[in-house]
Amino acid sequence: MVNRITGRMSGDLRRRRVGIVGYGHLGQYLVKQLQDDGLRHGLELAFVWNRDARKLVGTVPEELQLGKLTDFLERRADVIIEVAHPCIVQDHGESFLKAADFMVGSPTALADLDTELKLRKASREAGHTLYIPSGALWGGQDIQRLDDGGLLQALTVTMVKHPSSFRLGGHLGELAKGAQQERVVLYDGPVRRLCPLAPNNVNTMAAACMAAPSLGFDGVKGCLIADPNLPNYHVVEIEATGQGGFSVSTKRKNPAACGAVTGAATFAAFWSSLLVCQGHGGRVYLC
Ligand SMILES: NC(=O)c1ccc[n+]([C@@H]2O[C@H](COP(=O)([O-])OP(=O)(O)OC[C@H]3O[C@@H](n4cnc5c(N)ncnc54)[C@H](O)[C@@H]3O)[C@@H](O)[C@H]2O)c1
Repeated sequence: MVNRITGRMSGDLRRRRVGIVGYGHLGQYLVKQLQDDGLRHGLELAFVWNRDARKLVGTVPEELQLGKLTDFLERRADVIIEVAHPCIVQDHGESFLKAADFMVGSPTALADLDTELKLRKASREAGHTLYIPSGALWGGQDIQRLDDGGLLQALTVTMVKHPSSFRLGGHLGELAKGAQQERVVLYDGPVRRLCPLAPNNVNTMAAACMAAPSLGFDGVKGCLIADPNLPNYHVVEIEATGQGGFSVSTKRKNPAACGAVTGAATFAAFWSSLLVCQGHGGRVYLC
């Protein structure tokens, strides 16, 4: 029988080996999913790395713990998933792509132009895919198709969260603290400048920029809003406009525990994204 998502035969003996970099909320969720349900999808764990290795003890079998990230080659992973921090993408993304497909869990890292270009080049040259998980982005593949056809003219992503759901420093952090009574617009402008200011909060916007390379991080507009009246969910609104009066607006409500940075549905979305990572050649692929 053919698996609907992966396209693999259920009797396929060759399993894809998955390396997980980062063992926080997302990393732990993905490792558990792989342990519980990986074989059914033809996936097995190749390694788990975390900056603080003590966190792995007792939950990840010793032989699957990777001590030094630079030793990742020994584990012969087919796909490596970063769910740690944008700096891992910037420092190691290129070497990951030379050896394996690479799913970037922190796409805000790609707002750094050198990193984006370096990773696109490594992917092309090695024939390995740079996967961008859709996360909370609705309609990402439709945006990509519109962009591919040269029809996309403008794209705006608005994200609204309770002030306690932001992890912000500096000026934006101060603005968010002031949003106790009424909603406050924290930022409205190109996504490129916002990513380094709010790296943990705007991955969805960064994914939209990668889905629409004709606009990219300078052309896609991001609007970040703190709203004290949204304790249980995050809102992501997308507005795409194209030629001849074409437009699409979507509004997604993503249930989230009070103060949570990541909405509950985003965890399941990451797992679905991983199931798509079967190797799509040397290119960027929204999954
Ligand atoms: N694409 C999306 O839609 C989306 C959604 C949620 C989270 N994310 C991103 O995925 C990443 C992980 O999210 P999470 O919720 O699991 O976070 P988390 O804080 O729960 O876990 C992060 C893990 O990475 C480690 N880490 C932190 N800083 C590091 C550094 N500088 N170098 C190496 N390791 C470091 C931490 O020790 C921790 O184990 C974050 O960058 C987050 O912004 C993306």
